Amino acid sequence: MAVQAIPSSHQVEIAILVKDTMSNSLTTLGGSPLLPEDPSRRTALVTTCAVGAVAGLGVAIPLVSTFQPSERAKAAGAPVEVDLGGLRAGEMRRVEWRGNPVWIVRRTPEMLESLKKTDPQVVDPKSEQYYQLKTPEYAKNQVRSIKPEYLVVVGICSHLGCSPSDKFQPGAQPSLPDDWQGGFLCPCHGSTFDIAGRVFKNKPASRNLDVPPHTYLSDTRLIVGEDKKA
Ligand code: FES
Repeated sequence: MAVQAIPSSHQVEIAILVKDTMSNSLTTLGGSPLLPEDPSRRTALVTTCAVGAVAGLGVAIPLVSTFQPSERAKAAGAPVEVDLGGLRAGEMRRVEWRGNPVWIVRRTPEMLESLKKTDPQVVDPKSEQYYQLKTPEYAKNQVRSIKPEYLVVVGICSHLGCSPSDKFQPGAQPSLPDDWQGGFLCPCHGSTFDIAGRVFKNKPASRNLDVPPHTYLSDTRLIVGEDKKA
């Protein structure tokens, strides 16, 4: 003989609640051509709907319970701590803050030196304009950062919101000028940015990559989204 699973008391309560609710709703539709005339068929329809609804709840409850508060806090803009240990010179680390990509680049001396060459070629060398986030005072300099070695920027192009690609290798290459010093290329419409996230002149994007508020807790611990301690 087949053995049927016995529903928990919680499921039974939900089933009764849903059945009552749906029964009431269907009752208010009395005379509707959508409901069968036969009372036994009406009961079967209501029961089927209630069981289906409970089955739906059975799927939905685990999904809701896995949405942890920390994820909600992150989506709401909570600061993100980044461990910079292991990030080598010339490498980039990506984190997410407020649903946007934030890039941390550990720049080499050569990369920093290249900013002197790109300075006259960019639209806003002193970061007086901004896209969505006002440039923090500590980033209104040629390197656009607290520590020259580390660049911290939001990876969203100010033209139409694409996310640029890192193009750190200097020299001629497709879609880039022959005297390319290393930086970022937006693949959507070709805007280019130097290794401080400053947009070059005569490109679709008109603003530099935003610098988010950030601060350092130690030499290898960075907080993105908060700068009270800076
Ligand atoms: S979105 Fe970046 S150039 Fe258009």
